[in-house]
Amino acid sequence: MSKLTGSKKATQFTESVIREMTRLNDLHGGVNLSQGFPDFPAPAAIKDAACGAISADVNQYAVTWGARPLREAVAREFTRRYGLPIVADEQVTVCCGSTEAMMSTMLAIIDPGDEVVVFEPFYENYGPDAILSGATPRYVTLHEPRWTFDPDELAAAFNEKTKAIIINTPNNPTGKVFTRAELEAIATLCRKWDAIAISDEIYEHIIYDGLQHIPIATIDGMAERTVTINGLSKTYSVTGWRVGWTISPPSLTGAIRKVHDFLTVGAAAPLQEAGAVALGLPDEYYAKLARDYQRRRDVLLDILERHHFTCYKPDGAYYIMTDIRSFGFRDDVEFARYLVKDVGVASVPGSSFYKTSTEGRTKVRFCFCKRDETLTEADRRLEKLVEVQSR
Ligand SMILES: Cc1ncc(COP(=O)(O)O)c(C=O)c1O
Repeated sequence: MSKLTGSKKATQFTESVIREMTRLNDLHGGVNLSQGFPDFPAPAAIKDAACGAISADVNQYAVTWGARPLREAVAREFTRRYGLPIVADEQVTVCCGSTEAMMSTMLAIIDPGDEVVVFEPFYENYGPDAILSGATPRYVTLHEPRWTFDPDELAAAFNEKTKAIIINTPNNPTGKVFTRAELEAIATLCRKWDAIAISDEIYEHIIYDGLQHIPIATIDGMAERTVTINGLSKTYSVTGWRVGWTISPPSLTGAIRKVHDFLTVGAAAPLQEAGAVALGLPDEYYAKLARDYQRRRDVLLDILERHHFTCYKPDGAYYIMTDIRSFGFRDDVEFARYLVKDVGVASVPGSSFYKTSTEGRTKVRFCFCKRDETLTEADRRLEKLVEVQSR
């Protein structure tokens, strides 16, 4: 057998479906409502801060676990918002996006054979993250319409091999915001089985209808067993900057920092400086961000419902999961391909968010982190989509 092949690990997962949809979209000149990145400008103040840092020659490696001003800003803001004291030097590690923060955390805490509980539908990176770190994933399904989990099913997923559970709130792709009662149920299991909560909170500020984000680290007894993951990408509309971080208990920080160091050395130094400025924006910035996204959510909900999608209204994040059964296609992939090629709108097939359940085959996801003109153009193109009944 030739050795000129990929590793066993690399053959266990496929190319990202989301990024493939973006490429298909570019090929067909479609409106891209698949990959979650804004098509509007980032705030001027933070772009100026980034240019300023480059001009001021902040152009060499930052401290590997993150420039002090950014680490201190992360610690300060978390403490200010949630009342949990965070020590930047002992708990904050800046990474190349929350993607690398998640990977470094998993590689730092997982041994082969360890189990990790993952809710599905899940953000598609968590599957490959589990494989690359050697974890055995145990999936627990969030059930529509409110994306709730069955507490018995969750309890049955934990055992003495459980090392961690991955939580994502506000959630991609469902828009679910975990309630305090749900987080307490998860926390009880983490304490019982001595497991770590890895909490991806990248949509922390994108939350609607007056709901509050609750970090699981603030639940009783969880500060010492939670790694909170976040980043600049979504809150400041700078997905291309690749700056994220972990907030970990001091007992785990050393392992995360070592893995991070040898994976990437560090995130872009001038963009970390600008990140510290971003975290200092006034509270009104965050209130407006949520207001603007809530309006876009309502615009896209109206568009999709007029075009006969069944929508699950999100409470947070910037995606809408839809049911496509009424269109009469074989499955989500066939529908998503048709939609991008023949209608000119890119979505993400629901099955890419599921591993064990077939529930994704009746769904596609759209994102609404887009300008009004983009959403209006999608509306226009969707006129071509006819319900199966009328075909
Ligand atoms: C839940 C979730 N986590 C992480 C990321 C990636 O974030 P970053 O740009 O910080 O790597 C995304 C991007 O879509 C996401 O939806």
